[in-house]
Amino acid sequence: MYGLVHIGMRDLITSAHGKNRWGEVLNRSGLNEDAFVAMQSYPDNTSYQLVGAAVEVLETPVTQILEAFGRHWVLSTGPEAYGNILDMSGESLPELLENLDDLHVHVANIMPNLKAPSFQCKDVTEHSLTLHYHSSRQGLTAMVIGLLAGAGERFHTPCEVEIVSSVENDNGADVIFSVTW
Ligand code: HEM
Repeated sequence: MYGLVHIGMRDLITSAHGKNRWGEVLNRSGLNEDAFVAMQSYPDNTSYQLVGAAVEVLETPVTQILEAFGRHWVLSTGPEAYGNILDMSGESLPELLENLDDLHVHVANIMPNLKAPSFQCKDVTEHSLTLHYHSSRQGLTAMVIGLLAGAGERFHTPCEVEIVSSVENDNGADVIFSVTW
């Protein structure tokens, strides 16, 4: 994944746990500052290594780390790095969710090696929808839950997210979420 992801993780851990803890995570991961160039694309393993180190050093379950990261991404890293793309992707939670694929197309114009996820909204009502998430990666469901929580907060419409179905294997992940706000 792009180095911006690692930068987001660094900012989250530094702000929540302090610079020393971040230093420990970095040591444990075996990564160095080379892995933190925002516009450079790294093997996914680099990102998973960082998350694994955070799990060990912070003694926190991986789902909790990924969820916190997803939330931080939408509320902090995304707005700081590409606030304009987020701003033009919707003025409400359901609008943003409908536009996630377009959003990542815009991101891919800037980051050509992006391996973006894809999202489809179905069963849309005034206060709910089901979100169909497809990824070529696995293990990121908790990050999506955090992203959705952050997106709800962005528009002051806190949402509840439940997993309706989930299939993950070496080819990636297909997960359906029900989102209610
Ligand atoms: C300005 C805002 C955003 C930017 C700049 C952005 C950019 C990115 C980048 C750089 C990656 C790493 C993929 C790679 O390097 O190959 C990524 C992954 C991802 N993004 Fe976004 N994104 C944004 C907003 C969102 C939002 C609002 C959501 C969902 C609510 C979302 C869902 C995801 C997910 C789930 C992944 C993990 C990759 C996967 O599932 O395979 N992103 N995005």
